[in-house]
Amino acid sequence: MRSVFITGASSGLGRGLSLHYAKQGATVFAAARRKDELSKLSAEAQGFAIVPVPLDVQDSEALVRAIRRAEEEAGGALDLVIANAGIGQPTPARKMEWQMVKRIMDVNVTAACVTLAAALPKMIERNSGQVVAVSSLAAFRGMPGNASYCASKAALHIWMESVRVDLRATKVRATTIYPGFVKTEMTAKNKFPMPFLMELDAAIKAMSRGIARGARIVSFPLPMSAATRMLGALPGGLYEPLAGKVRMF
Ligand SMILES: NC(=O)c1ccc[n+]([C@@H]2O[C@H](COP(=O)([O-])OP(=O)(O)OC[C@H]3O[C@@H](n4cnc5c(N)ncnc54)[C@H](OP(=O)(O)O)[C@@H]3O)[C@@H](O)[C@H]2O)c1
Repeated sequence: MRSVFITGASSGLGRGLSLHYAKQGATVFAAARRKDELSKLSAEAQGFAIVPVPLDVQDSEALVRAIRRAEEEAGGALDLVIANAGIGQPTPARKMEWQMVKRIMDVNVTAACVTLAAALPKMIERNSGQVVAVSSLAAFRGMPGNASYCASKAALHIWMESVRVDLRATKVRATTIYPGFVKTEMTAKNKFPMPFLMELDAAIKAMSRGIARGARIVSFPLPMSAATRMLGALPGGLYEPLAGKVRMF
């Protein structure tokens, strides 16, 4: 990978992936809102190329402009584009706040799809490159208190499936990543039990290996991935009363 564009690069998985690809010699365009965190990331890369791209991904015009600039600097097209920026906040149905629902959908769905959609045409033209969406194991069932987050990750799951179908005759790869719980800023605020909580480094290894082999899907850790699939296979009539007994927030 010579040129990589990553959203949500100021912390957690995006930050880890940025350092990983920079240390491999790629020029990494690292996008997020917090300029200071991006500057720190760039400084930590010590000699490796991390270009801070301060922006709010909810501003689609600015996001697409940044991708076009990165494409130009990369000599035409990017090798790898990772839609990773995401927010996770509870939206329990009995205390639903429409503003939070909108924000989660805007960042996790609209901005993620805009990121990848903006990068695809040049990749198709060159018949190479890879788009990656960071979904979640939460995509496979409507978890209690998390309607918006689960739905946003499910939307990305299906969006990427269609993209993969359409790209079959090309050499452009599309990878969807389904992490379980990983130690990041996002999970630091959770008060509920997080089974098989992973260290950041282990998650970055799993993600970067899957991306390197051009996998269709990457899901981890194994026990959580298997448990989610079993949960996904339960009929709704069984799942809903069971899930209704769990109070997460
Ligand atoms: N950690 C987990 O257990 C877990 C599990 C499954 C899936 N995921 C997914 O993995 C991705 C990364 O999560 P993480 O755990 O690394 O969380 P994190 O540490 O909270 O990082 C989220 C990143 O998204 C960026 N972001 C949020 N809103 C943005 C906006 N409007 N514009 C630009 N950037 C924005 C944040 O940067 P700024 O605040 O600087 O803008 C930050 O860099 C997310 O999509 C998340 O849903 C995480």
